[in-house]
Amino acid sequence: MRILTTAAIALALSVPVLAAPPAKPARLGLCAACHGEDGVAKIPGAPNLAGQKLDYLREALRQYRDGRRDIPVMRAATGPLTDAELDQLAQWYSALTPPRAAP
Ligand code: HEC
Repeated sequence: MRILTTAAIALALSVPVLAAPPAKPARLGLCAACHGEDGVAKIPGAPNLAGQKLDYLREALRQYRDGRRDIPVMRAATGPLTDAELDQLAQWYSALTPPRAAP
């Protein structure tokens, strides 16, 4: 019984961790107005981010922040962020399911 209970608890704890997306980044609010919390763009001209490759997002964010991609809105949004914060955002968006393409 003890073993069963332990196994049940272990399962209950591990399954959501495996299935769940990464924790919502503290800085997501900086991005949501344009890219959405769900990674689907909210304004014309902003790209969808949901399901984009992790490495690509991570590198793109560093490029904007460091000015290697010179886009003022993105530079302003990423300017105050640390590498760790950019990584959290990249992980968040890459873990989302992309919207279905229009037929
Ligand atoms: C004011 C609107 C706005 C805000 C706020 C904003 N972005 Fe953007 N973002 C854009 C636009 C516009 C582009 C396209 C820029 C370009 O042409 O390179 C872009 C591009 C990107 C790209 C590159 C996508 C690609 O396919 O190359 C990433 C990644 C990204 N944004 C992430 C973020 C994150 C993360 C935040 C929050 C820290 C954020 N953005 C905040 C408007 C915004």
